[in-house]
Amino acid sequence: MCGIVGYVGKRQAAPILLEGLHRLEYRGYDSAGIAIGGKTRLQIAKRKGRVRELDELRPLRFKGTFGIAHTRWATHGEPSDRNAHPHCDASGRYAVVHNGIVENAAALKAQLVEHGCVFTSDTDTEVFAHLIALMDDGSPLEAVVGAVLRRIVGAYGLAVADAHRPGTLVVARNGSPVVLGIGDSEMFVASDPSALVRHTTSVVHLNDGEIAAVRADGYETRTLDGAPTSSTPSTIAWKDEAFDKGTFDHYMRKEIAEQPDAVRRTLSGRLDTRFQTAHLGGVTMAARDLLDVRRVKILGCGTARIAGAVGADLIEQLARIPADAEAASEFRYRNAVIERDTLYIAVSQSGETFDTIAAVQEVKRKGGRVMGVVNAAGSTIARECGQGIYLHAGPEVSVVSTKTFTCTAVAFTLLAIHLGRLRDLSVANGARLIGALQELPDRIAAILEREPEIASLAKLVAPAEHAFFIGRAAGHAVAAEGALKLKEISYLHAEAYPAAELKHGPLALISPQTPTIVILPRDSLFSKNISTIEEIKARGGPVIAITHPGDAPTKFDGAIEVPALEPELDPLLLNIPMQLLAYHVALLRGTNIDQPRNLAKSVTVE
Ligand code: F6R
Repeated sequence: MCGIVGYVGKRQAAPILLEGLHRLEYRGYDSAGIAIGGKTRLQIAKRKGRVRELDELRPLRFKGTFGIAHTRWATHGEPSDRNAHPHCDASGRYAVVHNGIVENAAALKAQLVEHGCVFTSDTDTEVFAHLIALMDDGSPLEAVVGAVLRRIVGAYGLAVADAHRPGTLVVARNGSPVVLGIGDSEMFVASDPSALVRHTTSVVHLNDGEIAAVRADGYETRTLDGAPTSSTPSTIAWKDEAFDKGTFDHYMRKEIAEQPDAVRRTLSGRLDTRFQTAHLGGVTMAARDLLDVRRVKILGCGTARIAGAVGADLIEQLARIPADAEAASEFRYRNAVIERDTLYIAVSQSGETFDTIAAVQEVKRKGGRVMGVVNAAGSTIARECGQGIYLHAGPEVSVVSTKTFTCTAVAFTLLAIHLGRLRDLSVANGARLIGALQELPDRIAAILEREPEIASLAKLVAPAEHAFFIGRAAGHAVAAEGALKLKEISYLHAEAYPAAELKHGPLALISPQTPTIVILPRDSLFSKNISTIEEIKARGGPVIAITHPGDAPTKFDGAIEVPALEPELDPLLLNIPMQLLAYHVALLRGTNIDQPRNLAKSVTVE
């Protein structure tokens, strides 16, 4: 959500920043801009639309060896040229790019207007530029920006350039990530390491409340009050090539195809065939503490929450510990009771989702124990939690999550086996599940080969304006994920319901134009699901079943038969065809699959 990139060094900054913006475009794509420090002034180009539209303003002609750039996902003010970042003071000396929200922007703006400042945008960000200009007393830029930030209420990841202090960038973080990339006599800054990996793998993640002065020969970090802080560089494991689309038309399709390998990495080194359990090196809680856990509460947003619901079901089934998943955004504000014997688990692909971070902090503040299930190593949630399970799914660039849903469900399967084997899960059941997990990547690959069948089913769904997804137990979570995927990328209105709930209201909307996609494993609830399907068919509703091979008493309008593995892993497998279904419906409807309207990857604002 919004991307920041900055450079200071010996090379020309513009090409580096523009390439970084293209890399970050998945974080926000309604406008983009760049400021390059020349000898005496900043050269600025900004524009509504995609980064390629900014390219048309020819910012590559700007000469200078330091600068900042931004790709925006609008919060304050509509997407427009004037609201695009960077924002400047009246003289054009200072340029600011910002992710986050300034909560006291209106009050600050009123004071600045009284001082004679003229605002040229509707953004909250512009207050930074005017305040810096007003408060610059000749101290080092980091001290001036620190003083400004002490007046700000809200969240920010911020980068500032000053035409009169060439060769220095100041960046700061409060609630929105900022990473420094250490090069050879050059430094990079970004809101997301993906913009840096082409240049360096040595990075420093700023902490909340930290400000950094960044120069070609290094950096210093401080608190807003100027007290020095220490920071240890870490190494990014993700390779630059992982960010390429390769031969695929869309990142989403590439990431769907990567699932067998991604799952292999999630499983790697974690299957213990001696004790038929899972070995989770990042879970530092001792076995006896895990035995004391009486409840598990999983927190996340969107797909992460839904994957958490699959996880909750697995933990309840395999470890017999009551578990549920809740939207982190709700949890953080409802003054939740934090229990000593509850294990809280934060789930996040990016590790930077604002609501999930806030929920983790709320648990910690009240003395609860929390672990993370996170993809991005070194991210805020990973660091806040201090223990947990990394997915190792590799970077996910498409705005919609696919492989990280699957890998999160796999990570929860491992955790559920681990917790279960500390309790009543037998050796035989442990062995059964470990064996199934070993087979899982090949099973996923086999489902992916069914793409032509799934693409032809998409033709049934694409003309509809509404669709239902139904399932029971973990199948309901899978239905929820299917509906979310479809609505996000095809803009088709899709709702998920527990199958039996249909008759309590939504059945009124069933018609020949409203397809229902049914998650139909051959489990103990199969015949119950068939009864629901009959109710839909009796009202003329088309039914598409995502199911296992075998005779069914009902004729479906379409079906994908996925060979069964073990019941606990079925939800995960039944989800794969739905990813492809959503993808092909979106292709037929001609939408922007990787960057759907109004959305952005990694929601770092409330
Ligand atoms: C849906 C999707 C979002 C994210 C949600 C949480 O396809 O991608 O719903 O799952 O914004 O993001 P993370 O996992 O980064 O915390």
